[in-house]
Amino acid sequence: MSHHRLALQNLHFAYPGEEAVLKGVSFEIRHGESVAIVGANGAGKTTLLMHLNGVLLAGQGEVTVGDLKVGARTLAQVRKTVGTVFQDSEDQLFMPTVLDDVAFGPLNAGMEEADCKIRAQACLEQVGAWHLRDRPPHHLSGGEKRRVAIAAVLAMSPGILLLDEPTTGLDPKGRRQIIDLLKGFEHSKIVVSHDLEMVLDLCPRVIVLCEGRVAADGPAERLLGDAALMDGSGLEVPARLKPCPACGK
Ligand SMILES: Nc1ncnc2c1ncn2[C@@H]1O[C@H](COP(=O)(O)OP(=O)(O)O)[C@@H](O)[C@H]1O
Ligand SMILES: [Mg+2]
Repeated sequence: MSHHRLALQNLHFAYPGEEAVLKGVSFEIRHGESVAIVGANGAGKTTLLMHLNGVLLAGQGEVTVGDLKVGARTLAQVRKTVGTVFQDSEDQLFMPTVLDDVAFGPLNAGMEEADCKIRAQACLEQVGAWHLRDRPPHHLSGGEKRRVAIAAVLAMSPGILLLDEPTTGLDPKGRRQIIDLLKGFEHSKIVVSHDLEMVLDLCPRVIVLCEGRVAADGPAERLLGDAALMDGSGLEVPARLKPCPACGK
């Protein structure tokens, strides 16, 4: 099934009254791929991600998810396929308890209450957060909130996961837990981040976005190790890929 394929063709977008943010972006993501979108602050990464789930609709060009062209009429179906973990996880959590929050999506989609609880339990266990089930989400730490937000998205059984800066604001342990968790997922994943060390751990393929255009699209190690490309895109070669100052290798 071409269900988990995602394609952008010549996508242009400008916020009302502003200069263009996306200036002709094209790429295709195939079933099961993990792809990172990297770029400097303001490069248009979040804006791009919001087109993949129909939060924003293309000004010009086309976004397709599976066989569906993303548009007002296909939004409900698109959002069943594409699950988004937004950068500010707390915006996604609003119920009195963690368990209610994770069960909310399936319940809202019409699933039986008992089945929702079973599914919510399975998803909370998957992210290592079942012990938090009775806690109010707004009392959790940043890393805990992020994991619960991921569980809430998993509860909707999406084929494709979009994650916007999943490690930002987390302490080293919370960050490592999120990376290990995401590594275990078999979903197609699109991760927006400037945590390039995480990108190396998680995504074999990288798309570099620079001023609203794709500056490069290819293997993570090659692109992130390319000093001229990184510099020109407002990024820095991750420490792991820098030559040893002593021997140059
Ligand atoms: N809601 C908005 N209205 C107007 N301009 C916006 C809005 N959101 C983002 N922008 C602008 O669009 C550009 C790209 O932003 P964004 O997609 O958030 O970049 P990134 O995620 O790469 O940091 C920036 O110049 C930003 O100021
Ligand atoms: Mg952003």
